[in-house]
Amino acid sequence: MSERYEELQDESSALSTPPAGDEVEVHVDEGHEQDRLGDGVPTLPAELPVLPLRNTVLFPHLLSPLLVNTPRSQQLIDEVLLRPDRLLVCTAVRHEVEHTPVAEDVYRVGTVLRVVKMLKFPDDSYRLLVQGVTRVALEEFTSEEPFLRARIRPLEEKTGDLEGVEVQALTRNVVQGFTQLVEATDRQNREVQVLAANLDDPSRLADLVAANLDLDLAGKQAVLEELDVVARLKLVQAQLSKEQQEHAIETEIKEKVQTEMGRTQRDYMLRQQLDAIRQELGEGEDDEQEVAELRERLEAAGLPEEAHKQAMRELERLEQIPPAAAEHGVVRTYLEWLADLPWQTLSEDRLDVNEARRILDEDHYGLEKVKDRIVEYIAVLSLKRDMKGPILCFVGPPGTGKTSLGRSIARALGRKFERISLGGVRDEAEIRGHRRTYVGALPGRIIQSLRKAGTRNPVFLLDEVDKVGTDFRGDPASALLEVLDPEQNADFSDHYLEVPFDLSRVLFVATANQMDSVPAALRDRMEVIELPGYTLEEKVEIARRFLVPRQVERNGIANVDFELPDETIAALIEGYTREAGVRNLEREIGAVCRKTARRVAEGEAVGKVHVRPEDLEELLGPARFEPELAERTGQPGVAVGLAWTPAGGDILFIESTRMSGKGQLKLTGQLGDVMRESAEAARSWLRTHAEDFSIEAEDFDRSDIHIHVPSGAVPKDGPLAGVAMVTSLASLLTGRPAAGRVAMTGEITLRGKILPVGGIKEKVLAARRAGIERVVLPAANRQDVEEIPAHLLEGLDVKYVGTIDEALQLTLEAPKSASA
Ligand SMILES: Nc1ncnc2c1ncn2[C@@H]1O[C@H](COP(=O)(O)OP(=O)(O)O)[C@@H](O)[C@H]1O
Ligand SMILES: [Mg+2]
Repeated sequence: MSERYEELQDESSALSTPPAGDEVEVHVDEGHEQDRLGDGVPTLPAELPVLPLRNTVLFPHLLSPLLVNTPRSQQLIDEVLLRPDRLLVCTAVRHEVEHTPVAEDVYRVGTVLRVVKMLKFPDDSYRLLVQGVTRVALEEFTSEEPFLRARIRPLEEKTGDLEGVEVQALTRNVVQGFTQLVEATDRQNREVQVLAANLDDPSRLADLVAANLDLDLAGKQAVLEELDVVARLKLVQAQLSKEQQEHAIETEIKEKVQTEMGRTQRDYMLRQQLDAIRQELGEGEDDEQEVAELRERLEAAGLPEEAHKQAMRELERLEQIPPAAAEHGVVRTYLEWLADLPWQTLSEDRLDVNEARRILDEDHYGLEKVKDRIVEYIAVLSLKRDMKGPILCFVGPPGTGKTSLGRSIARALGRKFERISLGGVRDEAEIRGHRRTYVGALPGRIIQSLRKAGTRNPVFLLDEVDKVGTDFRGDPASALLEVLDPEQNADFSDHYLEVPFDLSRVLFVATANQMDSVPAALRDRMEVIELPGYTLEEKVEIARRFLVPRQVERNGIANVDFELPDETIAALIEGYTREAGVRNLEREIGAVCRKTARRVAEGEAVGKVHVRPEDLEELLGPARFEPELAERTGQPGVAVGLAWTPAGGDILFIESTRMSGKGQLKLTGQLGDVMRESAEAARSWLRTHAEDFSIEAEDFDRSDIHIHVPSGAVPKDGPLAGVAMVTSLASLLTGRPAAGRVAMTGEITLRGKILPVGGIKEKVLAARRAGIERVVLPAANRQDVEEIPAHLLEGLDVKYVGTIDEALQLTLEAPKSASA
């Protein structure tokens, strides 16, 4: 019998219920099993003993082991065993308590359980196996001593339509998810899984799965208390997904380590086979020759003293290790790295400033200030011949030419170019390498790029420094700092290489979308050069000179008489792109070229292909963006706001219309909650100041107002549109159009104050790009504007306001009467 108990114990602990209870009573008795109880579901008595459980929730229908070792609880069990139905209620202790839990400490929803089996153990504990019967509410505690007792009420489940498609799908989903999780984690007994797969009762299924998930006490209790079966399944499903995700991440990390091991092992196998083949071919003597060759290469590489010593030491070691040993391959690879690095190789710099300028102009249109700065840099270089200056960092939205400028600098200097993309680098080892003791170790990206460059004075573009992350594998930013520090980088140490490499002749250039997320220490090392984005005219030039010829070439229509006139390019920019840079523009031009290539190939187009603006719709589909400004504004109710977007800021049209109704406010255009509140505030303010604007109070009550913020897949949230909202509404209600070519941003309060907002620089530049002539900004944002280089503000009138009153004087056209 006691063997049988073990078996059950095993199975039930798979049901993962940690033992409850925590104290001990002396009760020496041999392991003695009580009789099993009969099956049938009992009718519930009105009152039952209540056993509070610490740290666990027991569910109906499931078998759970229970350890009882406080005298109080054992007394309770003794009494339960005297009952013919052997029922009790278990309920979880809701918070940690030092004392014996009393009525106030336990949840009011618990589970009725039947004692199926009980063993008294020599250590005086009771070990029970209990079977869940049903959920109950604990209505009222009828006694506290010698243990808790309560009046109970069975809880009816809300089952609804369990055959419904939703429930079916949910059930299948949970069964599948759970099965996968169990299989993947080995964490739970397979029997549980079989059980789950066979369960066709969604309620039981939810309980079973909940009992086996990593839910905390409150989470489990929530599942217990959820009487709606569908809702309960959903709770369980959510937790399941969470655990599946967690598990997937764990696996990914494990697999990463394993593939690295796998690769090294594969190399090793291949080398062994290679050796065997060599033996077969009578080339067994090659080992010596191989070492000799390596030695020669190492000597030729001109290693500095320390590295040379290390290389010779390792070379000796290589001779000692039998070629078949895995270590042999590891040492050889290491020596090859040492031999391949450009320890001495320098390329000759072209320090001709005029030539540099010519090359920069050849590669990029415009960007005069940027090019000036680069040329200056080169001039200093030609005088000083060292790299101790700050690192140039190009900052701007995507597609403004940051990466390609880096390449161009290398070309201007006649240096090799390597781009080191830092986007998503989280591991310090990616910069600095893994130690050789680590299986499958490699040098970091700096050393790898040096080998690729083949010179020790290349231009390294640290692309997207703002995307470097940090996680448990160390801080890549601090490794970068060391790379960039002229005091330290002459002795840059890569973990794999072990010996220092001199990086002082490398010219580092960096790029970022924004400086905010660049770690401060790195930021301090950099001189920021802004590439804020292009105007329409500049884009047309760039397209005509660079993008169109390149796409024509790429799409194989170089021999077609193809023309994309400026007006078509302009239409393409206005209708199909919305960006500070030219990345999408290049893509769209590519699409036009591709379509043309196809038409030529199909014989549809012959002779001259001249794409007119009106042809774009046929080639690319209807325009994605509406024509800006001029056509949109001018009528009452439309104001131009400014938004910050990761692509570099954008203008935003706020349109209000009015229809007769009951004074309701309707908002459309994927507006976030904060934006909604802004709209409400704008309306309230106007309502209180209706008189000042000669708006009839009735206009508010008898009409519904509809505010729409059209276009742009930009999720619109944030309080930034407050001023634009109030302008739009005031314009609508007074019939005074918003002032032309004026854009605005700022948060408003109900009292009519204007509060500062973020992203001022991006917004102001976006405004200028869109042809705005005046921006109205919160007074408190003055500082932000002062930090923008003056040339970026050329032709833009910046006004500051502190109140809605002041703002409206600038954002609305003067009233008719005043202008008449
Ligand atoms: N001023 C410019 N003149 C010529 N081409 C440009 C200019 N600015 C950007 N481009 C081109 O636009 C494309 C995108 O530039 P890229 O350097 O990748 O941008 P970023 O690195 O800033 O995202 C490249 O093909 C680049 O040559
Ligand atoms: Mg780039």
